[in-house]
Amino acid sequence: MAEMKEISPNAPIQDKALNWVDNRFPLTKLWNEHVGEYYAPKNFNFWYFFGSLALLVLVIQIVTGIFLVMHYKPDANLAFASVEYIMRDVPWGWLVRYMHSTGASAFFVIVYLHMFRGLLYGSYRKPRELVWVFGCAIFLCLMAEAFFGYLLPWGQMSYWGAQVIVNLFAAVPFIGPDLALLIRGDYVVSDATLNRFFSFHVIAIPLVLLGLVAAHIIALHEVGSNNPDGVEIKATKDPKTGRPLDGIPFHPYYTVHDLLGVSVFLLIFSAIIFFAPEMGGYFLEFNNFIPADPLKTPAHIAPVWYFTPFYSMLRATTDQMVYALMAITLLGAILVVAKNLVTGVLKAVVLGAAVVACVLLYSFEAKFWGVVVMGTSTMILFGLPWLDHSPAKSIRYRPDWHKYLYGIFVINFVILGYLGIQPPSVIGERVSQVGTLYYFGFFLLMPWWSALGEFKPVPERVTFEAH
Ligand code: HEM
Repeated sequence: MAEMKEISPNAPIQDKALNWVDNRFPLTKLWNEHVGEYYAPKNFNFWYFFGSLALLVLVIQIVTGIFLVMHYKPDANLAFASVEYIMRDVPWGWLVRYMHSTGASAFFVIVYLHMFRGLLYGSYRKPRELVWVFGCAIFLCLMAEAFFGYLLPWGQMSYWGAQVIVNLFAAVPFIGPDLALLIRGDYVVSDATLNRFFSFHVIAIPLVLLGLVAAHIIALHEVGSNNPDGVEIKATKDPKTGRPLDGIPFHPYYTVHDLLGVSVFLLIFSAIIFFAPEMGGYFLEFNNFIPADPLKTPAHIAPVWYFTPFYSMLRATTDQMVYALMAITLLGAILVVAKNLVTGVLKAVVLGAAVVACVLLYSFEAKFWGVVVMGTSTMILFGLPWLDHSPAKSIRYRPDWHKYLYGIFVINFVILGYLGIQPPSVIGERVSQVGTLYYFGFFLLMPWWSALGEFKPVPERVTFEAH
């Protein structure tokens, strides 16, 4: 047991109270480690707002969620009407509901920007691999949380969206139909599905999410934050104090900095809630104001915008796309062997693996590969710390053409998202196929291209000009 710290009997009452607590719980120690004496690089820019904003939205979602659960009824006969009751009769219910539904979209906007910052500055690189891995796990949980939550209002889109996505699992070879049955709890989406989705949405996933967010921040504070220069501030410490020379205490510097981000965010967030909560059908789809009808399929079923880039990749995986993938696999293997990138028996292994991959691609239907492509498009993010072989972490010191690759990556992701909302079309299908190939090429070829080109010298200290 740690020794009790004595305090003068004449000390002010609040100091005595704090000392009493500190002797029993590491309150001051935790505050200092994570806030007061957490040294963050002094050159953070606006990209560093999004971590604290994600925390803020997490709190908003939990608090508004608690109030929604007080009035919501997870019953197929009552759910839709209970949401209407919240919107019309519960005092301030409309505000709570719009905060929660807009919060879901805001969460994804913020998290996508937060992830992109990681990509820009190489924040996933050593020693922050686990910060990134926990982040990717958070992203998967967020998608699950949003998917389960969307069924709860029991509107047409809730119902048919869930039907489409759960049916995807039925495409898994051998166990598919049983798996879909297990998820639904019935042969079609029904009251049983609503009950289990409710349970996952309000307790199971949030618990995991909170645990992962704690792990994310603990891992970050263990290694310290990266910064726009990608320079390790711990490498240059004051010999006397042992503090990083380019670091400043999180409090008050970044608490105030983040307060600016919070203010701007709340302005935009309130404007949307009060003036455009449906956001033209992007945040709340129009079809979801019609009660779920298992006998009437809407003409066009599209997921909410934050899922659509991945949904586009699923739809892009047609029979023709599978043939293209087979051709790319074979060509890739022949290139590896012809260019002597592997030697001896490995050549036969590479060619053999390519043939096996082609046989597998041919053996299962395109719908199944679509599910695999969609799943892999999110899972591939986990591999980023090991795919990037660039000698410079931050985009600032990489060759200029890397910036174009990143720019095209973003534009491509937005186009995929747009196409995922639109009804299928011939041109849209081709564009999304090219987009899918670019998305996967970006990551899978990264070990090669990230090390190419002329890099600028990375400074030893961070660059910063006081405003
Ligand atoms: C609920 C969602 C999330 C919350 C609350 C959250 C919270 C935070 C906070 C507070 C920080 C420190 C402040 C900052 O650097 O902006 C941070 C840093 C970081 N987060 Fe997240 N995060 C979330 C999701 C994610 C996701 C999905 C990823 C990536 C897949 C990710 C990757 C990172 C990385 C790499 C850093 C370190 C950045 C650096 O030091 O440059 N986070 N996060």
